[in-house]
Amino acid sequence: MLNLSKMKSIGADLSRRRDLNINELIIRTLLSFESRAEEKGLGVEIQLPEQHMTVVADPDAITQVLYNLLDNSVKFATPGSCLCISLCKEGGKAYVSIKNTGDTISEEDLPLIFDRFHKSDRSRSLDREGVGLGLYLVKTILDAHNEDISVTSRDGVTDFVFSLTLAK
Ligand SMILES: Nc1ncnc2c1ncn2[C@@H]1O[C@H](COP(=O)(O)OP(=O)(O)OP(=O)(O)O)[C@@H](O)[C@H]1O
Ligand SMILES: [Mg+2]
Repeated sequence: MLNLSKMKSIGADLSRRRDLNINELIIRTLLSFESRAEEKGLGVEIQLPEQHMTVVADPDAITQVLYNLLDNSVKFATPGSCLCISLCKEGGKAYVSIKNTGDTISEEDLPLIFDRFHKSDRSRSLDREGVGLGLYLVKTILDAHNEDISVTSRDGVTDFVFSLTLAK
């Protein structure tokens, strides 16, 4: 049985936050999708700065954020297309972008996808396993970290970008 109140506490425990090499965490999480990406014939482009970035965050919670976003991008990507994962720095923040080519999320669906159990009608029929909690959890964790996430979806290219705070 899913326990939503327990899920809500993920990422909210300040004592779990530490300095974290985000380059390494991205690579490590990405590696866990290697075989699924290969099965779908997906190319993976990774744009990471040579010098690693250190952010302050709960490692397990941010692993969950990366996992859920990568899970979606692999699941909703057109077979044979390319995923693009990139990391950049702006102001005091690091920004992680996870981009794939597949179905465009409609303008009506876009504001709702972070809601609990929301799935587009199409994904409801294509993917019967997912229950629509992945992005809700992503948003809950990032809210608890006071970080932002934004999404754009145009001409089949869907791009999720979230912020993290750089260590001093
Ligand atoms: N990269 C993407 N491309 C296209 N649609 C997406 C993408 N990511 C999310 N969506 C849409 O947003 C909905 C909600 O995503 P979410 O991750 O919360 O649920 P899910 O993947 O369907 O199920 P779960 O994550 O619980 O397995 C999806 O069902 C899909 O309609
Ligand atoms: Mg999902």
